Amino acid sequence: MGKTYAAITGVHGYVPEYVLTNKELEKMVDTSDEWITSRTGIKERRILKGEGKAASDMGVEMVRGLLEKTKTDPDSIEMVICATVTGDMKFPDTANIICDKVGIKNAFGYDLSAACSGFLFALTTGAQFIESGRLKKVIVIGLDVMSSIIDYTDRTTCVIFGDGGGAVLLEPNHEGLGLIDSVFRGDGSGREYLNMRGGGSLYPTSIETFEKGLHNVYQDGRPVFKAAVKGMTETVNEIFKRNNLRKEDVNWLVPHQANMRIINSVSDFADFPKEKVMINIEKYGNTTAGTLPLCLWDYEEKLKKGDNLILTAFGGGFTWGSTFLKWAY
Ligand code: UT7
Repeated sequence: MGKTYAAITGVHGYVPEYVLTNKELEKMVDTSDEWITSRTGIKERRILKGEGKAASDMGVEMVRGLLEKTKTDPDSIEMVICATVTGDMKFPDTANIICDKVGIKNAFGYDLSAACSGFLFALTTGAQFIESGRLKKVIVIGLDVMSSIIDYTDRTTCVIFGDGGGAVLLEPNHEGLGLIDSVFRGDGSGREYLNMRGGGSLYPTSIETFEKGLHNVYQDGRPVFKAAVKGMTETVNEIFKRNNLRKEDVNWLVPHQANMRIINSVSDFADFPKEKVMINIEKYGNTTAGTLPLCLWDYEEKLKKGDNLILTAFGGGFTWGSTFLKWAY
């Protein structure tokens, strides 16, 4: 038997019902549908509403749907990784809460925090357990409830983010399909430009941290924009080079959905035709760790066995990278 690859054998997404439109945001902050659409490409985003609803409730929808469509017995799942920066609580991990609510009894799990790159990093982490032969069924979730940490009086952040995400099942493959290569990077000096400082050991929760707004997302958009274009472009190009890929070999570019102008710049720099780029930012905005599985879910019907995909992400940290995978079904 040849090399064992870790293949995605199913994907299921979830977004909450409530649609927050640009028109509604116009009533909340000094902004306009025209500004949001032309500067970001976003028309609407989903918001999780309801007493007691949290990240794990979205994760439950994703995982239940995934188990159902792949006809997988919950008892056979061995590991669950949940990429998120908006878990139910600081601890325990949301992955464990999801397992409890779904009835996954034989798995261990944990959360992975790498902001918008979280799903990509978690996917490769989960894949290592499959490739090594240690595990046979791993679920990787990417989700965020960004509405829980956004200040809806700050027009520079509240128009961008939304809630949602998705889950994938990873299983062994011996036909050369699955994750092939990843290029990941990090630069902690980027923490200055994109962060949520309150509630950690540096700024423990206090009246002062609330008054200073440290429990909400802070972003200095322009430097993040530049670093995002550079980081994603460089790692996509490295994936092309390292794997001797030609442009025509790649069926889909799956970019993090942070800003339509960033997506356009990355695909232009990589000289990648727009019809091969997965885009759903207009419907969901930036769901942080949720964007990539949501794209895969939205485009699932268009994907064919053997398709070459390059996934790329950039997020807080800074963290960024690209993954090359062959679609398995
Ligand atoms: O997912 C994690 C990584 N995050 C990203 O990749 C996001 C990267 N950054 C961005 O996407 C963009 O920088 C933003 C969408 C956040 C902002 O777009 P921008 O084109 O970089 O705008 P800007 O920050 O340079 O601001 C331009 C102007 C400013 O007004 P002045 O100073 O020129 O008068 C802002 O105050 O636009 C103003 N502005 C707004 N106006 C209307 C900022 N936000 C808004 C708004 N509505 N919502």
